[in-house]
Amino acid sequence: MAQRTKLFTASFNCLKNSNNAYSTSLKNISWWGKVEMGPPDAILGVTEAYKRDTNPKKINLGVGAYRDDDGKPYVLPSVRKAEQIIVSSALDKEYSAIGGNPEFCKHSINFALGENNEIVKNGLNATVQGISGTGSLRIGAAYLSSFFPGSRDIYLPAPTWGNHVPLFKHTGFNVKTYRYYDPKTCGFDFQGALEDISKIPENTIILLHACAHNPTGVDPSAEQWAEISQLVQKKRLFPYFDMAYQGFGSGDVDKDAQAVRLFVKDGHTLCLSQSYAKNMGLYGERVGAFSLIASSKDEAARTMSQIKILIRPMYSNPPIHGARIANTILSDPALKKQWLVELKGMADRIIGVRTQLRDNLKKEGSSRDWAHITNQIGMFCFTGLTPPQVEKLTKDFSIYLTKDGRISMAGVTSKNVEYLAHGIHEVTK
Ligand SMILES: Cc1ncc(COP(=O)(O)O)c(C=O)c1O
Repeated sequence: MAQRTKLFTASFNCLKNSNNAYSTSLKNISWWGKVEMGPPDAILGVTEAYKRDTNPKKINLGVGAYRDDDGKPYVLPSVRKAEQIIVSSALDKEYSAIGGNPEFCKHSINFALGENNEIVKNGLNATVQGISGTGSLRIGAAYLSSFFPGSRDIYLPAPTWGNHVPLFKHTGFNVKTYRYYDPKTCGFDFQGALEDISKIPENTIILLHACAHNPTGVDPSAEQWAEISQLVQKKRLFPYFDMAYQGFGSGDVDKDAQAVRLFVKDGHTLCLSQSYAKNMGLYGERVGAFSLIASSKDEAARTMSQIKILIRPMYSNPPIHGARIANTILSDPALKKQWLVELKGMADRIIGVRTQLRDNLKKEGSSRDWAHITNQIGMFCFTGLTPPQVEKLTKDFSIYLTKDGRISMAGVTSKNVEYLAHGIHEVTK
């Protein structure tokens, strides 16, 4: 507040001096004279640079959206079918409820926890539709910021999805980290994570990526999740799961939900954000859900009432079309079956190009151990390339990726994988 007042006074004095009058027309007032230019978004900046490049061999591995083997955006046939069903139903365009489409919410939490789960049966969940994964995380952050009875700190894995940091900071949390990725092995730093988690003070929130960790592609094993769950319980921490890739990691929607389901089985109450951007390819439709699993039906009902009170002044109620698509798919057994096949097809293509990239690096004669390319899962691969190597890869080969060496495997195809392997080998040999 003090900072804002200072800025305002400085701007105003500056105006007074330069224009020499209070009578200057309002049109000339520069309210934003002290606003500094912010940095461009790291990922979108990569795409901008890619677009300007005229090299026909250029590859964009920055953006986290699925591409087919021709490098084209992919609309799932099950999504097209759902849209036809919606259009032929001639539904109205009335406002949604504050918490969104209730049928979608029910299917969404069942999709995460498994059909016939005890949580939904016993009314222990408060679930609302969110504006994709980001908006659902934001609802959770707003709720926790207002009602979490413990610490104002939140612990995120290091590294994490870049947007987690500002998202939780904007809602008033101090963002801290626990060790997650081991650059020496390009794998999960299990001991480091356990050590750091055991030092987190009680009554603190810990954020966990449910599957296909972004940006590393490194997930704990089932046994490691079991230990993490015990430790989180022993330390009285509150788990917040971000599940942006259910089914997209392994191709198996149940396997990808194993961590969340295990924590629920172990008796944790928790928060969960879901996104249908990747697994249904509904990026721009912005479909997601936020759930809080409470310890009683009454607690869930009270939580739900407060979540609605938070949503109402933020955006009133969510958009209807995307949730109708997801709901149509999740509620129609035949269409859901089709979608699961298509989802597995996307995951399998990515798993396949991981193997192709590793094989082609070997063919190039690389003596490095590239096992992490196939050990990691999901949309991203943390290659282990250093910032100078990334810069050279972009400058000499027109291959675009973020400075941390993360590549979106979705941008790799059977047609460009050889060229990519050649470029990586040249900058790492
Ligand atoms: C870990 C993680 N969480 C949440 C999101 C949010 O995605 P969206 O808002 O597009 O659903 C992403 C997207 O990249 C992500 O990687």
